[in-house]
Formats: sequence, C-alpha cells, structure tokens
Amino acid sequence: MTIPMRGPEPGPELETQRRIDEKTLWSGGVATAVVAGLIALVGILVCRWLLKVPILSPSRDGAWGDASTAGYVFAAAATALAATGLMNLLLFATPYPRVFFGWIIDRARARGDFEVVVTDLAELNLPMFDEPNHPRLHQYVHQHTKDWSAIVEASDAFIFVIPEYNYGFNAATKNAIDYLNSEWLNKPAGIVSYGAVAAGTRAAQMLKQVLSALKVVPVTDSVNIPFIREKLDEDGRLKPNEIMEQAAAAMLDELARWAEALRPLRASAS
Ligand SMILES: Cc1cc2nc3c(=O)[nH]c(=O)nc-3n(C[C@H](O)[C@H](O)[C@H](O)COP(=O)(O)O)c2cc1C
Repeated sequence: MTIPMRGPEPGPELETQRRIDEKTLWSGGVATAVVAGLIALVGILVCRWLLKVPILSPSRDGAWGDASTAGYVFAAAATALAATGLMNLLLFATPYPRVFFGWIIDRARARGDFEVVVTDLAELNLPMFDEPNHPRLHQYVHQHTKDWSAIVEASDAFIFVIPEYNYGFNAATKNAIDYLNSEWLNKPAGIVSYGAVAAGTRAAQMLKQVLSALKVVPVTDSVNIPFIREKLDEDGRLKPNEIMEQAAAAMLDELARWAEALRPLRASAS
C-alpha cells in the first residue's frame, strides 16, 4: 500500500471500485439475515400447510413440541444464511492494514509539509497485471492503469505500508508497483512494515530491491512493527509506542529531505 504525497484525491471512479466498504457490509449483512428469517418462515408455512409436514410436531397437550427432520434441515439452512449475514457484519473487524495506515497518515498530515493522498490497494482493486505493452512505453490501454498512473505521477514521495508474508512483501503491492515505470522515477519512499518476530524487516528489504529497479530511493529510516496484535487495544485501535513514534518522525523527516533533494533530478528527467 502506498501513500503518494502531493497527488490528486482519488476520483469517483476509484470510489466506485471499493471492494470492502463498511456501509455495503452492514446493509449486506442485515439483508442476508432478513432473507434467512423469511426463508425459514416460508419453509415452515409451506411444510405445514402445503406438504402437511409439520416442522415442529405439536405435542399431545397442543403446545409446539420436537422438531421434525424437515425442521432440522430448514433450521440448518436458515442458520447458515444468518451466519453469512453475521460474517458480513464482522468482516471489517480485521483492520490491521488500515490501523497502521491511519496512524502513519495522521503523523504525516500533522507535519503540515506533506499533502497526503491515500491509496488503499484494496480500494484501487487493480487486477493482476494486464497491460499488453511494457509499462516503460506508457501506452496504457486500461482505465485502471491510467488512474493509478495519474496518482503515482503526481506524487513526490511515497510511504509503503506492507505486511510480511512468507519472508517477503505482499503480492498486491508488487502487482501495483509492476503496473508502472517512469511514474516512480527519482522519488523517495519510506517503508512501514509489520509482521511477527521480524517486524516485517525481511519484507522491507525485499521491497527495497524491487524499488531500486525503478530508481525509487528507499530512505534508510523506516518503521518496523513486530507482533502487531500486541500493539492493538481491545477495540482494535493502534497503541503506538515511543519507538514507533520516533521511527515515524525520523522516516518522515528523511522523506521530506529526499523529496527536495531529488526534485532537480526529476525536473531534468522530464
Ligand atoms: C500468508 C501469510 C504469510 C505470513 N508470513 C509471515 C512471515 O513470513 N513473517 C511474519 O513475521 N509474519 C507473517 N505473517 C503475518 C503478517 O505479517 C502480519 O502479522 C499479519 O498477520 C498480516 O496482516 P494483514 O494480512 O491483515 O495485513 C503472514 C501472514 C500471512 C497471511
């Protein structure tokens, strides 16, 4: 994930590409749960009055008694549907990338010398690289590439927020990087990595190797966060410690310096 700086705000096109959106999840979850209830009700009525199969067999004293086999089937189906609804409601309770994202965005904005533009790769929703031409030719045929190119082109510096997956950085970030070429040229990048014991440092090192192919300058100061679960409070909010705060401040300072230092190079390249 990247935070390009001094780029345009993502346009309406990017907004419509949201994949995981809190509002959609809530309405989807509630709708699924309501549908589950209606299916259960219709099932009970159909069984009882059309098929003459009682879902709940009345006991001798006239009260509703034990469930029949059909009753169990309908209950299982309704429960499965309701569970799907509940999953929808709870999906956005898995917030690690957004949690770190939010923290570093706040710190960058608080400085006042960065105009921060946020690009969440989940929202950008790029497909696997699908341009027919090499990105250095800049002959993009897809709108999603043109949108992504405009964001990166307009940025003077980047912050990548990455998890460590199997000792490397995540595939979505690599895919997004590979889409473009000259847009990255002669711009600095800071890295915020997170993971378990290694704090995402292996992922960060791997990212630096890839960035160097595109002449992005990774700044030396970085934020590397180990054992992310320990950094969250019971509501899933990030509890940044002093080490993280100092590392973020140092990284942002260096990023600002390099953004200025590389400006003449960018001007001569264009
Ligand atoms: C497929 C996968 C592989 C992972 N591999 C590593 C790893 O090699 N080293 C590590 O420190 N953490 C690893 N993790 C943990 C993540 O870096 C991180 O702690 C977190 O669980 C990922 O959160 P996110 O996927 O919500 O961003 C892995 C997680 C996943 C899902």
